[in-house]
Amino acid sequence: MTTAHQAPDILSSTFAADPYAAYRIMRDEFPLIWHEPMQSYLISRYEDVERAFREPVFTSDNYDWQLEPVHGRTILQMSGREHSVRRALVAPAFRGRTLDEQFLPVIERNARELIDGFRASGSADLVADFATRFPVNVIADMLGLDKSDFEKFHGWYTSIIAFLGNLSQDAEVAEAGLRTREEFAAYMLPIIRERRENPGGDLLSTLCRAEVEGTRMSDEDIKAFCSLLLAAGGETTDKAIASIFKNLLAHPEQLSAVRADRGLIPRAFAETLRYSPPVHMIMRQPSEDVTLSGGVVPAGSTITCLIGAANRDGQRYADPETFDIFREDLATTTAFSAAADHLAFALGRHFCVGALLAKAEVEAGVGQLLDAMPDLRLQEGFTPAEQGVFTRGPDALPVEFTPAV
Ligand code: HEM
Repeated sequence: MTTAHQAPDILSSTFAADPYAAYRIMRDEFPLIWHEPMQSYLISRYEDVERAFREPVFTSDNYDWQLEPVHGRTILQMSGREHSVRRALVAPAFRGRTLDEQFLPVIERNARELIDGFRASGSADLVADFATRFPVNVIADMLGLDKSDFEKFHGWYTSIIAFLGNLSQDAEVAEAGLRTREEFAAYMLPIIRERRENPGGDLLSTLCRAEVEGTRMSDEDIKAFCSLLLAAGGETTDKAIASIFKNLLAHPEQLSAVRADRGLIPRAFAETLRYSPPVHMIMRQPSEDVTLSGGVVPAGSTITCLIGAANRDGQRYADPETFDIFREDLATTTAFSAAADHLAFALGRHFCVGALLAKAEVEAGVGQLLDAMPDLRLQEGFTPAEQGVFTRGPDALPVEFTPAV
């Protein structure tokens, strides 16, 4: 086959600067790439990534080496009954009445506390002052942990995500991840033992008590799950909130529409998840040979599913490179459920357990920020840039505003 381009290298600086240009070339000309340094196949078309998330032949055994060394064993790498029982133990805390009645006030309060830190000042960095802190504070509060340990939590989840996305196998990143496992265990295990003795109304106490079909969580299970929560719920929602503001600030008419009608926040969130997803890639390992666009992937190999590419596939979305909260080919009603048509939360049995929590955080956080910053604008002369290859979002978002009275 003659092609106009070379296959893009996802470890190159060109890719890091603008993955979206590379994604276009991949989808059009190289839908299946063998990446030798990563020892992984790369797939980029919507139909292929959707299949990899939905069909059980694409196992998540990759987490045995990609996350277990830093977390311990978690639901991400489980399948079948083991996965469904473990997921049923934890899922009720993240939806329905528990979310609405127990955790929504926690979310609202944490957003307010952070905004109080800068609401009178007329300026803020929405990344450093809000987005990186808010989701971690919420999880810490939900679990009944001490929020003043924020710096520790932030350090740990950054190191876990770096281990997960260590595509170039950097030895220092790997060592830091293993250190995090030790430090987190030393921090969490005594708290879990104490909470078993003196349970309260927090999520950690709920996890200690939870039982499904005779299965309960051990201290080690709970510690591993809390580590997963910090990483899966911290880094992702952090990037989502920053990206919503980056996208809306770049489209002032859409920002005005959301400001006028807060009921549009879920639409703006769903379109942000499609257009600039916090997690750009997720891996899978097929248990049998599978045929995808471009050829056959042998059983046992690693496939990197490029969510950021699939979500901008012109075969699936009209005008895919345009941010448009009013687009008709993205359903907002299903965007936070396993029936979602964007791929930012994956699909199938590992569909993000925290999707509704993330939605509640975004609705509260974005709503309160818009209230506090009536004439929100980027700091004069600042052009926001995205950073990251595995997870991606704006590295800073300095804004100015006239303080609301
Ligand atoms: C915008 C925010 C979020 C995004 C983009 C996101 C993305 C994802 C993705 C892509 C997966 C699937 C991983 C895979 O299949 O390999 C996932 C799973 C998961 N997420 Fe999220 N997530 C977000 C927020 C959260 C929050 C707030 C929590 C909880 C505090 C959370 C907890 C989890 C857990 C526990 C899983 C594993 C589910 C399972 O294996 O059954 N996530 N998330």
